[in-house]
Amino acid sequence: MNDEIMSLNYSLIPMFNNAKVFPFYSVDSTNEVAKELATRIIPEGSIVISEMQSSGRGRRGREWYSPPYKGLWFSIVIYPSVFPQELGKITILAGLSVVRAVRKLGVVDAWLKWPNDVMAGSKKLSGILVEAGIEYDIVNYVVVGIGVNVNHDESEIPQELTDVMTSMKLSCGKEFLRAIVLSEILRNFRELYLLIRSRRFHVIREMWERESGFVGRVVEVMSGDEKVSGIVEGLSDEGSLLVKGENGLIREIWMGEVSKVRV
Ligand code: BTN
Repeated sequence: MNDEIMSLNYSLIPMFNNAKVFPFYSVDSTNEVAKELATRIIPEGSIVISEMQSSGRGRRGREWYSPPYKGLWFSIVIYPSVFPQELGKITILAGLSVVRAVRKLGVVDAWLKWPNDVMAGSKKLSGILVEAGIEYDIVNYVVVGIGVNVNHDESEIPQELTDVMTSMKLSCGKEFLRAIVLSEILRNFRELYLLIRSRRFHVIREMWERESGFVGRVVEVMSGDEKVSGIVEGLSDEGSLLVKGENGLIREIWMGEVSKVRV
């Protein structure tokens, strides 16, 4: 067994006081384990990380390819005071944390495809799956699952994913220490999460608009059964996407899947 994940120097990871790290070699999904632990009220900022996942999950019930030794598969447990309809803000903050981290480490062509895809060029580098425990409109806990493709070579990407998936190594031509990537993501996450806690999402929104690389792109978004086309204007203060259509009107999109993007 490669012990890099099990023996990461977790003091490198500046999350919150008392936060714990739960390292595993193999789990079905770190989000599932984190949800289970969150119901037992583990300290805020604790993370569940695994060398591999046997049933890594993506959005919309998709599978998330999570082989050992190559990537980072982890979930952060937080207890934000937000309403269920504000959970999109957490996805935005997680995406921004990852894109800032990978750019700082050298992935210069990284950008964010709303709501949760971190891209390098035209391919996906990282995905985020936010899940919450909600009872009677109260958010009891939030699990922020983050997957980052770090050191995959071309031959290690499944054939059916070669057109859509990339890694930091493929994008930069060098290997990365996963502990460093993790530490940088968590440093950003903590900084941005403190803004959410002090109810200053507008600061994150402004950063996202400056740094996501998504504003100004021509997009097609499937919002339910409807296809919305236009130019990305930015985010609302609630984290929804603002798209300006050909008629000049701004549409607000709460949930959707960006199907086409052009610079
Ligand atoms: C997506 O892009 O559809 C979201 C992918 C999220 C993958 C991560 S890996 C760690 C955590 N555990 C999971 O099962 N999924 C998330």
